[in-house]
Amino acid sequence: MEYLKGKRILLGVTGGIAAYKCCELIRLLRKAGAGVRVVMTPAAEQFITPLTLATLSGAEVLRDLFPSGGSVDHISSVREADLLILAPATANTLAKMAGGIADNLLTCCLLAARIPVLAAPAMNCAMYENPATAANIRTLRERGVHFVGPDVGWQACGESGPGRMSAPEAIFREAADLLLRPGQIRGTMVITAGPTEEPLDPVRTLTNRSSGRMGYALAGAAAMLGWRVRLISGPVTLDPPPAVDLIPVRTAAEMMDAAWREAKEADCFVGCAAVADFRPDHAARNKIKKCGEESLKLTLVPNPDIIRTIAGLDTVLAVGFAAETEHLAEYARHKLATKDLDLIVANDVSSTETGFGSEDNAALMIFRDGREVSLPRMRKEDMALRIISEINDLLDRQSRESAPV
Ligand SMILES: Cc1cc2nc3c(=O)[nH]c(=O)nc-3n(C[C@H](O)[C@H](O)[C@H](O)COP(=O)(O)O)c2cc1C
Repeated sequence: MEYLKGKRILLGVTGGIAAYKCCELIRLLRKAGAGVRVVMTPAAEQFITPLTLATLSGAEVLRDLFPSGGSVDHISSVREADLLILAPATANTLAKMAGGIADNLLTCCLLAARIPVLAAPAMNCAMYENPATAANIRTLRERGVHFVGPDVGWQACGESGPGRMSAPEAIFREAADLLLRPGQIRGTMVITAGPTEEPLDPVRTLTNRSSGRMGYALAGAAAMLGWRVRLISGPVTLDPPPAVDLIPVRTAAEMMDAAWREAKEADCFVGCAAVADFRPDHAARNKIKKCGEESLKLTLVPNPDIIRTIAGLDTVLAVGFAAETEHLAEYARHKLATKDLDLIVANDVSSTETGFGSEDNAALMIFRDGREVSLPRMRKEDMALRIISEINDLLDRQSRESAPV
């Protein structure tokens, strides 16, 4: 999903051994839809070529403080960007930043930056622990510079300790966090996703085929459209979208506890998880053995109804999902009414082209006031953006109607 579509990143690369890792960072940023412009220090060119970075970023690399054409790249490049990432951030460049020194194109950009700056320090552990570096980082933090890492571990110089640059994925997540958590937050949205797992014994569970894709897409879309997102997820193989707080759970009871705790503080609750309606009345302490019996009888007891319970909180807008294999609209209208929801999104899971496990979905949205919006087959990510936009419109309408005249 292009979480960072339209965002512009200025990536400052300095002369550290970790410079090669910024190739992967550029790839992650571009895959998420961000535009990347690279500015390098002269020392960085000892570690990685401008050609590599120009090819990966798809744009000419900025290197010259005094270009022949007379352009003022140190001002225009930061003016055009939403975020400046410094990765790797050498001890030298951090010291220059703290001292306000502007002796190359990158340090000029850093001094001219009115945009957020995210630094990923990378250096030998002795350099990192030196009181001068520690004081510089402290000063920069106090001035509002954001930091990610460094990690502790084995270093290229053969020593082990703090100073290793954070993984590109971690830098990407911090960057996305800064870009997607705008000053103006709409509120907190709690989303449940994926299946639940009900234990039968220590090695077996009752579960379902939900992949979690729809819930994860909703979480990503909500973060992009201004929400602080708490994603309560059953076991899935997906990575959480950037700027989303993940709360992993297994059973329906665990999901219920987390949902209740989070929803009490939230403004909107979206129940997208495929929660098991029933669970075994008890989980066997030891693995159930084949003992020559022809059949094994399980007694199932109902799980708590998460969405209905949360919809009872009149402080949250409650949105439910209905996965049906027949009578889609009819069952969904019934569920909307009996569970007291503000909106239900019904999808047909009998088709292999949409619904569980597939990349696409088609759905019918039914609102409390009877309004219906049909969403034709589309990618789950696109559908998630449509659904969150509809939720935002609904909340905007409600707040206009309740505003004093
Ligand atoms: C092989 C080698 C690896 C280096 N790795 C680092 C490093 O990881 N971190 C660091 O702060 N300095 C490192 N240095 C030292 C910097 O390259 C040096 O301080 C340089 O002036 C940094 O310039 P810049 O901050 O303008 O890019 C390394 C030097 C060499 C020769």
